[in-house]
Amino acid sequence: MTKKTIRDVELKGKRVLLRAEFNVPMKDGVITNDSRIQAELPTIRYILDKGAGLVIMTHLGRPKGQPSPELSVEPVAAHLAELLGRPVAFIPYGDPRSIQQAAHKIKPGEVALLENVRFWEGEEKNDPDFSRLLASLGDIYVNDAFGAAHRAHCSTVGVGYYLPALAGFLMEKEMIALGSVVDAPRHPLVVVMGGSKVSDKMGVIENLAAKADYMLFGGAMANTLMAAQGLDMGTSKIEADKLDIAREMLKEVAKGKCKLVFPVDLVAADAFAEDAHHQVVAADKVPEGWMALDIGPATVAQWTEIFNNAATIIWNGPLGVYEMEAFNQGSKGVAQAMAASGAMTVVGGGDAVAAAEQAGVGDQMTHLSTGGGASLELLEGKKLPGIQILAEKEEAYVPKVRKPLLAANWKMYKTQEEARSFVRQLHKQLASQLLSAGAPGTSASVLELLICAPYTALPALNEALRSSGVQLGAQNMHPQAQGAFTGEISPLMLQDSGCTFVILGHSERRRIFGEQDAFINEKVLSALNYGLTPLLCIGETLEERKAGNTKKICFGQLAACLAGVSPEAVAGMVLAYEPVWAIGTGVSAKASDAQETIRAIRKWVAATYDDQVARSVRILYGGSVKPDNIEELMHQADIDGMLIGAASLDPDSFGRIIKGAYLVL
Ligand code: ADP
Ligand code: 3PG
Ligand code: MG
Repeated sequence: MTKKTIRDVELKGKRVLLRAEFNVPMKDGVITNDSRIQAELPTIRYILDKGAGLVIMTHLGRPKGQPSPELSVEPVAAHLAELLGRPVAFIPYGDPRSIQQAAHKIKPGEVALLENVRFWEGEEKNDPDFSRLLASLGDIYVNDAFGAAHRAHCSTVGVGYYLPALAGFLMEKEMIALGSVVDAPRHPLVVVMGGSKVSDKMGVIENLAAKADYMLFGGAMANTLMAAQGLDMGTSKIEADKLDIAREMLKEVAKGKCKLVFPVDLVAADAFAEDAHHQVVAADKVPEGWMALDIGPATVAQWTEIFNNAATIIWNGPLGVYEMEAFNQGSKGVAQAMAASGAMTVVGGGDAVAAAEQAGVGDQMTHLSTGGGASLELLEGKKLPGIQILAEKEEAYVPKVRKPLLAANWKMYKTQEEARSFVRQLHKQLASQLLSAGAPGTSASVLELLICAPYTALPALNEALRSSGVQLGAQNMHPQAQGAFTGEISPLMLQDSGCTFVILGHSERRRIFGEQDAFINEKVLSALNYGLTPLLCIGETLEERKAGNTKKICFGQLAACLAGVSPEAVAGMVLAYEPVWAIGTGVSAKASDAQETIRAIRKWVAATYDDQVARSVRILYGGSVKPDNIEELMHQADIDGMLIGAASLDPDSFGRIIKGAYLVL
């Protein structure tokens, strides 16, 4: 994520002005569904816990720039107070001075909610005077109202001209989930389009068809598209005046590589009513005078197959009239199949989200978007003003020029099937944390991931990791390309198995198999010669450390193993500092000690080659890296990632390490 979030600044003692999306359904002053308020609690609690005060603003309904009592957010303040277990002051509609006075009373740990911002005339006009007034209420502006991010109003954009604008957690989650599936989805990408009108979603179809491998159509929009292709849809709901543009669009979209899939069967009814007569019919056999109100079971079965092979699924729009029980089976079956598929699943659109929840699998989807219109515009590829206004992370927050690397070293563990199963589970784990590899803003864009596996598992992994962005490496190799070296594996063979990295000089090879620096040096030169990136391990034993020889040992190993390697090649290499006493012992080096040694190694590189090489070469730490020490280690300026042994064997713990590292970046 390139946008600054509330994690990136000091909040203590500040008054935060938070734009939330509390546009909740209300009946007679009673909130009928508070999920939007619930979704905001993590951001609110975080800000309060960090020692800041909070002034929250939201809109409710469309009061058109004047106070209207039935759209007051006073009931929201009361409800929020209940959820938070602390008072929430309500700031009523009034003149600038009274609002400022009320807001400025808010101290660290206290919360106030401002009356519906759309009561003020300036709000929807993005009027600078009203923006300035709002900005005067806080020191920092946080926009967490993804649902309103497609609106350029004072509270969603204008305030950002006067105060630094940060993303809250909800906004961050939406940007990562929707942004990543749109910008760099993992393939196969399957898009499911349903809902009422094709004309509402033309932009979404065109944008996503250019990226997707499959696009599946259902709902009333599919009726229009099928009618455009000449099918007789009976009295089905279609947009009769849109048949020509629908046909044109289909023609355009069909030129691409995306496979367009229409229902093979439908549930047809003799009336638009819950108790209508209905029956399953082939898609081209809607009886005269009948209408299609849902997709049929054969369609659900066929789509389930497609979901089971998908890496990413985007769903917008229900596939039938899900509000009526007789016609909700299609949406239900599809939602359940998606949830069970193991793909990253992102649901956008108010009705599709409601249908997923009705099917009982809302919480099994990777992400349910909280924004209807906003998510549609994002899926169309549009830039949302409420996101554009958010500050970019500064230089210091942008990951170092050296992209951090998390390298798993499986050592002598895992059969081929265990390796495949690890990849499946890791992918699921990352998807559920929105860290899918390969997407911008997610783990792989700021982090490089590498698995160094036993030789026998390499081809299986090469297959399983395809298009995941995760690199593959081996744990050792012989320097010769081929020859009479019984039991050895050559760089050519590693290339052939899909490796791009190779670990060389691991302490277990040195200690147990007696490998010497000179032989390791031959391997480094050979790996480079065959286009493999060497991951060269160095490190001292406990005795050497106690004798105060840590640096001497490391520098000696480096000098010997890197003999004859060009400065350019060193710059592209990866070094791993692994104190031998920390490997597999559960005793990790202190983060500050690891940093000190790695800084010294970098200085040695600068002195031996030059500054440029020292700035480029990545230096990892290894030795009992675990989910609970990853964050502290990643915080160190010179540590560019980790070589992880035992804790990389389990997808859950490796996934948590990835998440921990990601949070630091
Ligand atoms: P979303 O909110 O997910 O973007 P839409 O608002 O486009 O979805 O569409 C939702 C509406 O489409 C629902 O009210 C549903 O009843 C209606 N719908 C879906 N399929 C049909 C159909 N075959 N005939 C009539 N209406 C349909
Ligand atoms: C490795 O190769 O990753 C190191 O030897 C560290 O192993 P550990 O994380 O199990 O201590
Ligand atoms: Mg809708």
